[in-house]
Amino acid sequence: MIDFTSRQVSKTDIAHQLDCIEQLSRRNALRPEPPRFYCQTFGCQQNEADTERIAGMLAQMGYVRTQDAVQADVIVVNTCAVREHAEKRVFGIMGQYTHIKETRPDITICMCGCMVQQEHIAEKIKKSYPRVDIVFGTHMLWRFPELLLRRLNGSKRIFDISGDPKGEIAEGLPVQRDEGCHAWLSIMYGCNNFCTYCIVPYVRGRERSRQPEDIEAELRQLVAAGYKDITLLGQNVNSYGKDLNIGMDFADLLTRLDAVPGEYRLRFMTSHPKDASKKLFAVMAGGKHICHQLHLPFQSGSDAVLKKMNRGYTKQSYLALIEQARSDMPDLVLSSDIIVGFPGETEEDFQGTLDVVRQGQYDQLYTFLYSRRSGTPAADMPDDTTAQEKQDRFNRLLQLQETINQQRQAAYQDRQLTVLIDGLSNGKQGSEYTHCGRTDGGLLVLVRGKNLNIGDFVDVIIEQTSLRALYGREIGKGYHG
Ligand code: SAH
Ligand code: SF4
Ligand code: F3S
Repeated sequence: MIDFTSRQVSKTDIAHQLDCIEQLSRRNALRPEPPRFYCQTFGCQQNEADTERIAGMLAQMGYVRTQDAVQADVIVVNTCAVREHAEKRVFGIMGQYTHIKETRPDITICMCGCMVQQEHIAEKIKKSYPRVDIVFGTHMLWRFPELLLRRLNGSKRIFDISGDPKGEIAEGLPVQRDEGCHAWLSIMYGCNNFCTYCIVPYVRGRERSRQPEDIEAELRQLVAAGYKDITLLGQNVNSYGKDLNIGMDFADLLTRLDAVPGEYRLRFMTSHPKDASKKLFAVMAGGKHICHQLHLPFQSGSDAVLKKMNRGYTKQSYLALIEQARSDMPDLVLSSDIIVGFPGETEEDFQGTLDVVRQGQYDQLYTFLYSRRSGTPAADMPDDTTAQEKQDRFNRLLQLQETINQQRQAAYQDRQLTVLIDGLSNGKQGSEYTHCGRTDGGLLVLVRGKNLNIGDFVDVIIEQTSLRALYGREIGKGYHG
């Protein structure tokens, strides 16, 4: 049996990467102007967090970030494989980037992330995209400095999509976070759930949790650096710690992190219903910094489909779970993911999904048409529903949710909420609502008031609502410490 106990990449291996960074940095310092890098990210928050690591390494090598790919010396495309649409977009954009290389042959084009972790995709790049220099999978991210140095020293094209049966975690590499008061904080990587439609477990490997002291240390650094809104990340945060064997679960981790002093708030994603617990909701309800926000994907409201999906819960147990969460946190902001048109889904199955949407009263839904992923069990399941029927179901679902959204947004009229101001609103010129921000639940609020500053928590009274945003008047300083 393979031992899934997480272990860290050795200090020597990390030191080697830091040495490669140093070599490139010395080389870049000799250039008349600093070279530039451009990153594009597809996919979920995990990928955004990974790109921040790549950006951190490049910045330490002396590259400066540009928002214009045409100007870049190094281009990195971090890819997603979750649906076919995501993969098509990546290939579309690669045509443009490789074209840049016609006039600037010295640039280095890199592809990484979930999509390239698949053998057939790496093969396709090898054959059809000869101008791509480096392809590295999700497990090789920490080796990027070494791979880049090798290529710049004249090595032939590099393809490294090795797997990682040991579940290694790399600590101690630099990170350059995107601007603003929000930060991602990965607490675990990979997924063990093998939902039958999903490619993630194949491209991200087995679940492995970071050590609690490493997570806490990073949280303390983030708070000290002034970050106010911190999202803990994992494909299934509720199974945090299972691989560590230290008797600590996700609720325990949250309790420990919540004790870190400072003015900030904590949220997390994604939760899997099969591991979400009463204990978790109690910790959320009693926390000081923990937002009453829960993203709890249910995917389908049919027990038959849930079984075929290998989700490990029923419609009834799921509904009981959200009822519990709402009774512990009456102000909970709840969202979910749904797949429409899973192989064999009948109209009756779909009615079950609509029923959960009606009963769940979600603040936000992320709805997807099923996309066949080769290598997953669902790819071989019979599927005789026409594309048109699936699209019709999808449209009906959107319509239902729009009505619910409208009602839920309207219910915030005249309520008082705490908002973290995180930017200027780019609405109509002359609008009084000059700033924008998010509530604890993650709802978008446009704010008017005097002396509003980005990074401030303020209390607002909601004076208007629309489908997409709430409009609030600032009434004083809010607090989250
Ligand atoms: N780990 C998270 C979700 C990761 S993927 C969780 O389990 O909740 C994000 C969402 O993409 C999933 O919740 C699912 O709704 C959707 N998704 C995943 N694979 C898909 C596929 N093959 N076709 C359509 N949607 C898919
Ligand atoms: Fe995919 Fe399921 Fe894992 Fe989420 S829990 S990443 S949907 S296999
Ligand atoms: Fe996509 Fe990988 Fe995330 S497949 S959704 S980027 S884990």
